[in-house]
Amino acid sequence: MKMPELKKKKKKSRKVVMVNQLARSKDEKEIILDDPTSNLPSSDNPYTKMQKLYYEEAAATGDGIIVDNVVGSFDGHNKWWDYEFLFARLGGADLKTCRVLDFACGPGRNIVKYKDKFLAVDGVDISENNIKNAMEYLKKNDITTSNLYTCDGVSLEAIPDSQYNIVMSTVALQHICVHDIRQSYFEEFYRVLKDGGAVCFQMGFGSPSISTVNYYDNFYDAPATNRAYDVEVSHPFQLKKSLEEAGFKYFNYIIGPTGPGDSHPYWIYVNAIKTDQ
Ligand SMILES: C[S@@+](CC[C@H](N)C(=O)[O-])C[C@H]1O[C@@H](n2cnc3c(N)ncnc32)[C@H](O)[C@@H]1O
Repeated sequence: MKMPELKKKKKKSRKVVMVNQLARSKDEKEIILDDPTSNLPSSDNPYTKMQKLYYEEAAATGDGIIVDNVVGSFDGHNKWWDYEFLFARLGGADLKTCRVLDFACGPGRNIVKYKDKFLAVDGVDISENNIKNAMEYLKKNDITTSNLYTCDGVSLEAIPDSQYNIVMSTVALQHICVHDIRQSYFEEFYRVLKDGGAVCFQMGFGSPSISTVNYYDNFYDAPATNRAYDVEVSHPFQLKKSLEEAGFKYFNYIIGPTGPGDSHPYWIYVNAIKTDQ
């Protein structure tokens, strides 16, 4: 009998494009000179109002069972191995003892995904409907240890200082095309972290990048969000500088391939530490 020809399985490449190469690039001077002083924003601005409306409407159809109305490629994100890069460079910290805040948690995808990795994962999001959906999704997954907060779109005012070992975030900061709002959040991440805590987040990376706004722009009049008018991170130093301005130290990053449903050229996974040392 003739055996059927076995199809060769294509090996998926998991390429780390760049790891913490902080060598001086010729663009660096320009990028740093480009950096304006940040004005911390109030939530009463057209961008935040537009974002809130967008996410409330998008999340209105969720019920803890239908959870893909806001995230997009929900299962693809859950399977995306590279998110391990977020926590891979924390110096062997015992993650099981860590209390984590997931910034822009949406319907709670990361809270459920990482429920056994950490001591507990709390969530905060601009949208009340997302938080309602997250409550249902957590209930369905028997999670009772998480606190969920809504925020005003520019700060984490409901969350007290020095609460967390880790503040994490995925597919969210890249959607905020107002430099001053991102900077306000970086300062808030610093405030809510305990001493020695780490910020660990992912963003789109690379230049040129379609439908994106310059890193230092404050595009308060952007007519849409969530992939329309994302921010373009064109050099890791932009994030390093922003995080250092917020007080963080020991910045490092990994650049890898673009994750599910996204159109930035690459993704960047960033860590930095809140410490006096
Ligand atoms: C694409 S979803 C990602 C949800 C979740 N992080 C995940 O990875 O599954 C983007 C999320 O960011 C939230 N978000 C966007 N802008 C925000 C802001 N300014 N403040 C707080 N949350 C925001 C949205 O409500 C939405 O839940």
